[in-house]
Amino acid sequence: MASNLDRRQFLGQSAVTGAAVGIAMSGASTLAASSPSNKVVVGVMGLSRGRALTSTFAKLKGVEVKYACDVDKNRAGQGAESLGKVGARKPEAITDFRRILDDSDVDVLICAAPNHWHAPATILGCSAGKHVYCEKPCSHNPWEGETMVAAARKHNRAVQMGSQRRSAPGTVAAIKALHSGAIGRPYLARSWYTSLRGPIGTGKPIAVPDRLNYDMWQGPAPRMPYLDNRVHYNWHWIWHWGNGELGNNGVHTLDLCRWGMQVDYPTRVTSSGGRYRFDDDQQTPDTHAVCYEFEGEKQITWEGLSCNRHSSGFVTFYGENGSMELDSGGTFRIYDLRDKLVKEEKSGTNGEAEHVANFIAAIRNDKPLALNAEIEKGHKSTLLCHLGNIAHRTGDTLNCDPKNGHIAGNAEAMKLWKRDYEPGWEPKI
Ligand SMILES: NC(=O)c1ccc[n+]([C@@H]2O[C@H](COP(=O)([O-])OP(=O)(O)OC[C@H]3O[C@@H](n4cnc5c(N)ncnc54)[C@H](O)[C@@H]3O)[C@@H](O)[C@H]2O)c1
Repeated sequence: MASNLDRRQFLGQSAVTGAAVGIAMSGASTLAASSPSNKVVVGVMGLSRGRALTSTFAKLKGVEVKYACDVDKNRAGQGAESLGKVGARKPEAITDFRRILDDSDVDVLICAAPNHWHAPATILGCSAGKHVYCEKPCSHNPWEGETMVAAARKHNRAVQMGSQRRSAPGTVAAIKALHSGAIGRPYLARSWYTSLRGPIGTGKPIAVPDRLNYDMWQGPAPRMPYLDNRVHYNWHWIWHWGNGELGNNGVHTLDLCRWGMQVDYPTRVTSSGGRYRFDDDQQTPDTHAVCYEFEGEKQITWEGLSCNRHSSGFVTFYGENGSMELDSGGTFRIYDLRDKLVKEEKSGTNGEAEHVANFIAAIRNDKPLALNAEIEKGHKSTLLCHLGNIAHRTGDTLNCDPKNGHIAGNAEAMKLWKRDYEPGWEPKI
């Protein structure tokens, strides 16, 4: 659906063979002026979560999935097969996502690769004139989030973070009620995540399996030896690639807390917890409590428990006149100050179909900012995860600038604001 102008400009300045981060397309500054009936062509990178997510795209009228990309060629093949059964066409199975960037027919890059890829791929996608649906957390570190916002603005692209509850009808109704004063002024939001994860053991160096291009799996991250217990999925628990449970699942509820409380950046962040359960290669906390304070006497907390499913809830807002419980499917209950139930609205969808539809509509209507989880919102919520993890890793209480979330007076903590990159892969806009 990209306009011919967009396509020509992009083709003139990009090639798979070019340096990955050298792609820059200042010309793609306007969205295609297109009618709502226009076809939208999609390519996806990362085919575990990406497979289910992209099937939601494939089911939409006028959306075609042209490429199914995974650096694990088994996953690429299986993903293409299964997406072919859902959508209008069978996508081509590929292993290098730069094919998607270089194809002028493609309008959208979906990034569901591991976290260390999210910002670099999104920024390359924007530079190549693509709109990007990027999974949560949108970045691996705070600097990347700020750079993604700048890239989306520079190239005027629609960039949506995969925090799908922003589009769930029940959740939207709950937040609307909250903002209309259903519990008076909310001053505290508490949130939780529990799971039952096992140990990952101690990794042993082995040969990289033939099916996997480990070099492209690592991409922007400085090179590490291949161990037998990192790929797939367990990278979440290693700081080099992942952001722990806070970035993995905390981001969903912190995003809802931030939205409900109408706050952007905190003034103070504290963290406690650690690895209490298994003595193995995992580095990120399995038991974690973080607390964020904001201007206007407001606070958000998150507790994560990776190895015990007993749950205290999903999100609860506390206000001057009552409280509101919200669950992951958008059902909400309002209580008075004596804890008597005064209202219940049931719902049962997490909003994925609506979130994808919102993204496609923003592209078709040429309104890149009309996104329910536009990248600036995604960055602010993801930043809360990064700050909680930085507080944890330094052992310090962080004082932050409420204008932008930057950490004040702590050079050690600011070292974690950005990562080192594999030479040639540092994002540039
Ligand atoms: N929104 C949601 O509810 C939701 C749910 C699950 C996962 N996620 C997010 O999706 C992302 C992926 O999670 P996962 O559980 O699928 O992880 P995973 O490790 O199981 O799968 C990631 C896949 O990406 C592939 N990959 C890595 N580098 C690639 C590259 N350069 N090009 C193409 N493919 C590449 C891997 O080979 C792997 O198949 C994470 O960031 C996670 O937070 C979001």
